[in-house]
Amino acid sequence: MKIKISKFVGSAAGKNQYPDDDLPELAIVGRSNVGKSSLINMLLGRRNLVKTSSTPGKTQLINFFSVDGLFRIVDLPGYGFANVSKQVRNSWGKLIGEYLGTRKNLVEVVMLVDIRHKPTQDDIKMIEWIKASGFNGVLAATKGDKLGRQRQRQSCAEISDALGVQGEAITVTSADSRQGKYELWDRFNAIFEEKQLNIHIERQVQCE
Ligand code: GTP
Ligand code: MG
Repeated sequence: MKIKISKFVGSAAGKNQYPDDDLPELAIVGRSNVGKSSLINMLLGRRNLVKTSSTPGKTQLINFFSVDGLFRIVDLPGYGFANVSKQVRNSWGKLIGEYLGTRKNLVEVVMLVDIRHKPTQDDIKMIEWIKASGFNGVLAATKGDKLGRQRQRQSCAEISDALGVQGEAITVTSADSRQGKYELWDRFNAIFEEKQLNIHIERQVQCE
């Protein structure tokens, strides 16, 4: 299928506000400001479906986006932003932890790291959690447009080393150039197939 309708379906500050059905969900996680919301816009070919900001801490709730009524992409708040009060930081931690720890609909976790930065302790904790919870994790490096191709490769090798995932694919993405868009869709398609979900996203031919 080609994506026809992607839409915002709601925000949640706790589990009683999650959509109440059994649609599969792909969750996007990563540090604050890494580019989670921008990546969702890029994947869905929408300029402003998800609000983005150069100020870290933009996404403070869990936001659910439905793709053709078949599955949802879930935009989680960022972790690890030091300049917010401890109370706020903890509540973000709680939102993320509650979602990841309890959500039955979750089929895979897409973890983003900034291609220019060494993964943090929070990133390492996140990948460890993903693996310990039985997910494979889909790893993507954001803001690929900031580096040339050779530096991208170098940086991916350093990131996979730091995360302890040598040999695993890290998809380089860019919300600006749309690098990695279809590679990620292909990885999502493989997940849908593995989970025997009848969902397959085709490349979009129209102008976006
Ligand atoms: P929080 O909601 O605060 O956790 O941030 P986020 O991870 O959702 O990041 P967001 O998508 O809001 O992007 C943060 C900043 O990075 C914005 O200024 C974006 O324009 C910029 N940005 C995101 N992706 C890219 C990219 O691929 N390339 C470039 N050059 N800038 C990007
Ligand atoms: Mg965001």
